[in-house]
Amino acid sequence: MPAKPQLAFIGGGTMAEALIKGLLSQGLFEPSALLVSDPLEARLDSLRETYGIQTTTENLKTVEAETLVFAVKPPQLPDVLREVGPHWRPTCMGLSIVAGFRLDLFAPFFPQGTPPLVRAMPNTPCVIGEGITAIAPNPDVSREQLDLARAIFKAVGEVLELPEHYFDAVTGLSGSGPAYVTLIIEALIEAGVQQGLPRRISRELVCQTVKGATMLVQQSGKHPAELKEQVTTPAGTTAAGLHVLEQAAIRATLSDAVSAATERSKALAPAATPAPRN
Ligand SMILES: NC(=O)c1ccc[n+]([C@@H]2O[C@H](COP(=O)([O-])OP(=O)(O)OC[C@H]3O[C@@H](n4cnc5c(N)ncnc54)[C@H](OP(=O)(O)O)[C@@H]3O)[C@@H](O)[C@H]2O)c1
Repeated sequence: MPAKPQLAFIGGGTMAEALIKGLLSQGLFEPSALLVSDPLEARLDSLRETYGIQTTTENLKTVEAETLVFAVKPPQLPDVLREVGPHWRPTCMGLSIVAGFRLDLFAPFFPQGTPPLVRAMPNTPCVIGEGITAIAPNPDVSREQLDLARAIFKAVGEVLELPEHYFDAVTGLSGSGPAYVTLIIEALIEAGVQQGLPRRISRELVCQTVKGATMLVQQSGKHPAELKEQVTTPAGTTAAGLHVLEQAAIRATLSDAVSAATERSKALAPAATPAPRN
C-alpha cells in the first residue's frame, strides 16, 4: 500500500513540476511522500517515471495529505474546490499558487469552516530554482505551517511574506516580469546582430551583461542610478545610448507595462469566482 502523502498537488503542470523538482533536489521530502493529481495519464506517467512520486487521476485522494497545493489554472480552481472542499481535514494546509484567486474567495467552498490557507505568487524562474515567490497566509495558518510554506517555495528560489493587498502588483511586477526581461534580452541580442556580431556571441554578451548587472545591484547594495553613473563618462558611449533610451521614454513605458499587468490581475479575480453549486 502506498505511504500516506505529506504533500499533494492538484494539477501536475509546469509550476507543480518546478516545485517537485526543487523539493526533491533540496531533500525536503522523500519522493514517496509526494502525490500529484492530474487528469492526463501521460503527464502522470512522465512525473512518476522522472521523480518516483505517487500519482493519481482522482483529486479526492489528495485530501489525505498534510499539505495540499492548488496548481491548476484560475478557471479550473472552483471545480476543484467544489470537489475537495467538503472532504477537507481541518488540519490540512492549502497552498494556492492560482493567479488572482484571493484568500477570502475560498471560504464558501469549505462547509466545515475555512482551513489554514497560504496564497503564493511564484514566477517562472522557479523552474531553475531562481524564482521569487510572494506568500500571504490567512489567520488560521500556524507558525509551523507558515515555516513549511516558506521552505517549500525557498526550494525554488527566494520567498517574501507580504500582505495580500500587494498581490496584484506582485503579479504585474515579478509574476509577469520574466517576460519583460526576456523581451529586453531578445531585443538586445537583435541589436547586437544588427551591429554585425554573430548571434551566438551577441546572446552570450547580453545574457552575461544582464546577469552581471543584476548581481552588481544585489551585491553592491548601491542605488541603481549610482551604478549607472559610474559607467557613464561625459559625452561617452554609454551617455549616447542612455540618451536614446530616455528619449524613447523607457521608464514610463516599463511603468505602464507593470500598471497594465497589475490592472489585469485585479480584473481576473471576479471572473475566477463563481458561487459554489449546492
Ligand atoms: N507558470 C507561471 O509562471 C506561473 C506563475 C505564477 C502563478 N502561476 C499559477 O500557477 C497555476 C498553474 O500554472 P501552470 O503554468 O503550472 O499551469 P499548467 O502547466 O497548465 O498546469 C495545470 C495542470 O492542471 C491540470 N488540471 C486541469 N484541470 C484539473 C483538475 N480539475 N484537477 C486536477 N488537475 C487539473 C492541467 O491538465 P490539462 O492540461 O489536461 O488541463 C495541467 O496539467 C496557475 O493558476 C497559474 O496562475 C503560474
